[in-house]
Amino acid sequence: MSDILRRGRLSSTPDKDIMDFTSSMAADKWIFEADVLVDMAHTIMLKEQGIIREDDCSAILQGLFKIREDGIEALDHSYEDIHISLESRLIDIVGEDIGGRMHSGRSRNDEVATCMRIRLRDEMLSLMEELTALRASLINKAAENINTLMPGFTHLQHAQPTTLAHHLLAHSDALSRDTARVSDAFSRINKSPLGAAAFASTGFDLDRGRTCFLLGFGGLIENSMDAVSSRDFLIESAAVMANIMINLSKMAEEIVIWSSTEFNFIELDDMYASTSSIMPQKKNPDTAELMRGKSGVAIGSLMTLLTICKGLPLSYNRDLQEATPNAWRSVETTRSAVRIMTGMIATMNVNADVMAMQSTTGFTTATELADTMVRAAGIPFRTAHQIVGVLARGDGNPSLADVDEVSQTILGEGLSSRGLTEAMIAEALDPVMNISKRTVTGGPAPDEVSRAIAAREDNLEEEKFAISELNYMIENSLNRLFVVAQDCVEGKK
Ligand code: ARG
Repeated sequence: MSDILRRGRLSSTPDKDIMDFTSSMAADKWIFEADVLVDMAHTIMLKEQGIIREDDCSAILQGLFKIREDGIEALDHSYEDIHISLESRLIDIVGEDIGGRMHSGRSRNDEVATCMRIRLRDEMLSLMEELTALRASLINKAAENINTLMPGFTHLQHAQPTTLAHHLLAHSDALSRDTARVSDAFSRINKSPLGAAAFASTGFDLDRGRTCFLLGFGGLIENSMDAVSSRDFLIESAAVMANIMINLSKMAEEIVIWSSTEFNFIELDDMYASTSSIMPQKKNPDTAELMRGKSGVAIGSLMTLLTICKGLPLSYNRDLQEATPNAWRSVETTRSAVRIMTGMIATMNVNADVMAMQSTTGFTTATELADTMVRAAGIPFRTAHQIVGVLARGDGNPSLADVDEVSQTILGEGLSSRGLTEAMIAEALDPVMNISKRTVTGGPAPDEVSRAIAAREDNLEEEKFAISELNYMIENSLNRLFVVAQDCVEGKK
């Protein structure tokens, strides 16, 4: 069969080695569906503009419906990309006199950019859904653990008592910003480059607004050079996904540490564990470790995308083809990691007793004791910090007499004479009392955490609604496209 792309200008064909090097067919499987949509919208617009005849349009659309039904496998994989292979199949089906008219006023340059935006907007919507599910999982676990004491850490050293709910909400809040970033990226992804052709647009009287509408885009990438050359939408998405993977990696690291014998804070469901081929007793948190490791894939994809785009002159350069598989790698890795983390959190067992026991070891209540001295005895915080620091050299459970003795050496007087009592010290050393006092906005006090959980649950509902609206809008547009295409096939206007 004659090669519809090369038969004119070129006389020799690339060997298998060159083809493997230059072809994008493997990564193009991601955009097969999108390519058919783009072809349909472009064809309909060509007819509406009087650029192709109605009966040609009808035959082309019929061919495209068949190609869509037969799937990517029916295409000739020896072509260098999906666009030309799809066009060649169309020509096989309807003949060149008809099929050969589809590519009027178009280039693979605007075509591929449009396809990628169509596929990526779907991926970003799914990712947003998955992120809301993960946040719901974290928030549910938090709701079950509002009173579950645990030591909070700085420098991975016991720092102050907190609750597991407070800790989990920190992760869900970070992921809420990630969701907003995905949504923000979506608004820039969902723009149509179609009609830019190779880069200089075309002398055909195209209606770019019409294809934009038919494909459900929110607007145009107007400048035709910018439209075919820019991959900032991929870079931006990959950057957001790299950040999501960093957040998941941090969570995964905690899961690994908390599952250790030394911590024993949690136990993962066996589903997420693996064992050793030699040590029969092992239960390893492999899934969490892989999540930590796969953050490297997302970071690597971002670096690759940035490097590919760096220093490219306007407008289209074939280097850009190499961006595509990296974008997909980042999407696949990130979306699956978010889904897996959701289940891992939902099914993990919390060893609340161990956490509670550990919540005060390492004198985690020292800050509250110093604060109590400030409030009860009216001494400056810095002085209280010194007194408690000296007491911390002991067993972490000082009595009023101990306090007075240290205070005597530093201040020349005991704090009992300034109003500090044994009961106040006992209260300061009680982790539950510590937490109940931290009612500041965003603090771990149970009432404040309950408020925070309720607010986040409301936000999640609103976000889910907004995501479903976007999904509906796109689905609706594409259904409309199919209806318009079907009408053309049937010769209706
Ligand atoms: N496979 C190409 C890509 O992914 C499609 C565009 C080809 N354009 C060209 N001028 N060779 O970028």
